[in-house]
Amino acid sequence: MDYRKNMSIIGLASKRGHKEIVAIGSYAAFEEDKAEIALVVRDDFQRQGIGTHLLKILERIAAENNYKGFIASVLKENRVMIHTFQKHFPKSEIMSRGSEVFVQMDFEDHMQTEPVDRQ
Ligand SMILES: CC(C)(COP(=O)(O)OP(=O)(O)OC[C@H]1O[C@@H](n2cnc3c(N)ncnc32)[C@H](O)[C@@H]1OP(=O)(O)O)[C@@H](O)C(=O)NCCC(=O)NCCS
Repeated sequence: MDYRKNMSIIGLASKRGHKEIVAIGSYAAFEEDKAEIALVVRDDFQRQGIGTHLLKILERIAAENNYKGFIASVLKENRVMIHTFQKHFPKSEIMSRGSEVFVQMDFEDHMQTEPVDRQ
């Protein structure tokens, strides 16, 4: 992790005095102005907005580091991941590649529809 080309953030939950990692989000430089993103949220913490929150935080950090968008390779059957990306980036481009889809997300797209969450 170098805080620009490679960035990871974690979500922690406290349980009986112990902190546990329940979510991880990362991006890594892909092209000059695009970074590849990956998210994972622990099963019992899903559907609470954590995945979307990680996406927003990583978008803000990537934009501050002069990236213009994300790309992601996702298994075709992973409808939840594709939906999460498309909901935040409504104009995402989806390209089929065998058993995977390649999702292209543009930060401009998102910025035109709602302000970036600064929290
Ligand atoms: C994809 C993933 C990161 C989403 O995390 P999350 O914390 O559940 O996401 P959110 O709570 O922000 O939900 C985002 C959207 O997905 C929907 N969603 C989440 N889990 C769902 C499920 N099991 N079934 C149907 N919809 C689901 C939410 O309802 C929400 O949509 P909505 O706002 O239209 O209702 C999580 O499901 C995950 O870790 N999956 C396994 C890892 C993975 O496949 N990673 C892909 C590698 S890039």
